[in-house]
Amino acid sequence: MVKNTIAIDVLIKIIEDGGKVTTGIDVYNEQGILLLDKNVVVNIIKPLEVIKENGIVSIPFSSNTNSGVWDVNGNSIIFDKDGSFKTIEQKKHPALSGIEKRVSEIQELKKISTEKYSNAKDSIKKVLGEIKETGGDFDYNEVYSDVRDLVAFLTIEDNPFSYLTKEIFSYDDYLYNHSINVCAIGTAIVNSFNTTFSSFINSHLNTKQELNYSAVSTTDKKPEEAYKCFQKDEIEHICTGFFLHDIGKVMVKDEILNKPGKITPAEFDEIKRHSYDYGIKILEKNKLNNPFLTNTVQYHHAPLFRGQERGYPLDRAPNELPAYVKICQLSDIYDAMTSKRCYKEAFNQINVVTDIFRNYAKKDNIMQYILHSFVKSIGIYPAGSIVYLRNGQMGYVLESAGPLIIPFTDTQEKTLSDNANPLDLSEVGSDNVLQIDNRRSIKTPREVYDLLPSYLKPKKN
Ligand SMILES: [Fe+2]
Ligand SMILES: [Fe+2]
Repeated sequence: MVKNTIAIDVLIKIIEDGGKVTTGIDVYNEQGILLLDKNVVVNIIKPLEVIKENGIVSIPFSSNTNSGVWDVNGNSIIFDKDGSFKTIEQKKHPALSGIEKRVSEIQELKKISTEKYSNAKDSIKKVLGEIKETGGDFDYNEVYSDVRDLVAFLTIEDNPFSYLTKEIFSYDDYLYNHSINVCAIGTAIVNSFNTTFSSFINSHLNTKQELNYSAVSTTDKKPEEAYKCFQKDEIEHICTGFFLHDIGKVMVKDEILNKPGKITPAEFDEIKRHSYDYGIKILEKNKLNNPFLTNTVQYHHAPLFRGQERGYPLDRAPNELPAYVKICQLSDIYDAMTSKRCYKEAFNQINVVTDIFRNYAKKDNIMQYILHSFVKSIGIYPAGSIVYLRNGQMGYVLESAGPLIIPFTDTQEKTLSDNANPLDLSEVGSDNVLQIDNRRSIKTPREVYDLLPSYLKPKKN
């Protein structure tokens, strides 16, 4: 295995021209956080920009069988030690071409995401176990470091756990899964919100228009002073807050938390205490007074808008809730509704997104931007999932943008013998029978394994 380095700007140019790269070596920043996994096929420039933002100008590269740099036609690009490179036409990308290549990329990302998810699960299990054992003590620095690693991965890949859908989840582990899911969804929203909102603010500051900033800040300062974009370290604390938002639930008895039937008002009052009472006490016991953490734990069930009936505690007005607390609550609602519990089935994720949008849009200034970021980052049709079309055909989602799907059954759910061409649904009329049937739930390849043609079947590990 020959190790080399390649200038990141050169790789960005190659990818901008339609090329691809797989490094074959994990890329870390100075703090030891993984920025790029050695097996990922990079075909967008975002991960490379993130690496560059970390002060890395050239990345290590190994010439093993899976790694490589390829141009838009799949030709290998070979680098010399002095940084010059040439294209070798004969040597093609070792992976399969076209659709099969994309399917294998999706499967690879699923594999990496599964590993990351399992590490995150070990981390939250450890925290909650420690709290239970010691009556409240846990090692915050260890969780913070685990979440930083997770956030680095979630920043490179857009909501990668949506690839896993719910196929690996067992609902006995609800609290662990819920903590990771809220962190993953929340991180995607914060990242997207930060970009969208900062450019929005900047454009308004440039034109000196007045805005209602009450939703952002509780101060009377001018917008220029009142608002600032979340910085990298702030995002890491915010996301740690998402990860730990329900720690107070450890103090609520399992019989109440997982009660299959209807809970009594007294039991509901006990559950409510997980946020403003038990959660805060655990943070105080560990001398953690970082506002990103305390606000999220204390207020993640507070009313999101004036007049909202449910919500607790009530000691903070909705317009005084920081944006990240609102993001935590939306992620919490989304995950709770799309998860199967001992007392309910999972709701269809598309209906959930529509419901959330309908309930919260236009309630205040900032909610619109949070919801916009939410819909953008949620990945309604994750690549690698299975959808039904209105005519009864089933389709494999190749890209969530569009979405781009491959129909693989006929209208009677019999597997097609010929490979169909991918269909970009953004180009198909909204009332066409080839649009997705949103009344039917999205499935995973595992659930419909027997119906999949061989080129779409998940590989056995
Ligand atoms: Fe909660
Ligand atoms: Fe929660």
